[in-house]
Amino acid sequence: MANANRLGSGDSRSGWGKAMNRAAGEFDEKQDAVPVAQNRRAGSSTPARQAGGPARGRVARNRPALPSAEAPPPIFEIRGLSKTYQMGEVQVEALRGVDLDLFEGELVVLLGPSGSGKSTLLNILGGLDAPSRGSVRYGDHDLSVFDDAAMTRYRREHVGFVFQFYNLIPSLTARENVALVTEIAAAPMAPEEALAMVGLGGRLDHFPTQLSGGEQQRVAIARAVSKRPQVLLCDEPTGALDAPTGVLVLDVIARVNRELGTTTAVITHNSVIAEMADRVVHFGDGRVVSVATNAEKKSPAELSW
Ligand SMILES: Nc1ncnc2c1ncn2[C@@H]1O[C@H](COP(=O)(O)OP(=O)(O)OP(=O)(O)O)[C@@H](O)[C@H]1O
Ligand SMILES: [Mg+2]
Repeated sequence: MANANRLGSGDSRSGWGKAMNRAAGEFDEKQDAVPVAQNRRAGSSTPARQAGGPARGRVARNRPALPSAEAPPPIFEIRGLSKTYQMGEVQVEALRGVDLDLFEGELVVLLGPSGSGKSTLLNILGGLDAPSRGSVRYGDHDLSVFDDAAMTRYRREHVGFVFQFYNLIPSLTARENVALVTEIAAAPMAPEEALAMVGLGGRLDHFPTQLSGGEQQRVAIARAVSKRPQVLLCDEPTGALDAPTGVLVLDVIARVNRELGTTTAVITHNSVIAEMADRVVHFGDGRVVSVATNAEKKSPAELSW
């Protein structure tokens, strides 16, 4: 398959600390897309920006890789994003006009009260849900015009999801759960490599019931990152874990972000976790209330709650 080959050609390297070099241009063969991810950096923190801040006007499309870590391109440009669910007679406005940029390689934490629209936004970014109004650009593509096939390819090749409940298949071992994804990805890691990366090299043949909650979540992370996604979307990944186990899981997420350069968004109700982010986005009532930049980000090991 031409698309897979094109993806694969940029991803033949494996291992930690090597920047990925994946194009976001394979959804529409007719579109003359330029890779947005070509200046992906590994092992560096992302200069944080406010939504719609200086990068908005400055970062041009279709331009060559930026030489400086000072100017990562936006990987997502979210404009006027609204989502209304129709529940019988009742309309639920989950998102009411969200404008936000997410930058390549950054780690963003999304905070906000229950029902404020955090999961709805993440689901739209990950191609699990469609907006009612507004747009989401991913690199040079408008997600809202993707047909089903393009959306499936996008989810399969570009997005890793981690949810609060690990969604592992109980009858499969850790290795087999990860292999489910690596067998259909274009340029995956070996399941063993992905599991070693999350510290579970010694649990390959354990079934989910033979693993602790934190270990199961780490299998879920290994599964999500084994396809080397551009984007890792985590919806309350530590919500079911105690604090020390949560720190272990966050450490794996931070490591993936840092060493693979995967743009990472983490939803949480725990404001302490915001201290490990490049930027913190506060949601309220379907809107972005504020975007804050962390002058220094803490490592998960420094967090306690
Ligand atoms: N599939 C759906 N159908 C109808 N309404 C929905 C659906 N998904 C979400 N909603 C509604 O949209 C609003 C936002 O929900 P969302 O799940 O995005 O909130 P959240 O910020 O993730 O909350 P929490 O922190 O509790 O997970 C809520 O009022 C919710 O009831
Ligand atoms: Mg939610």
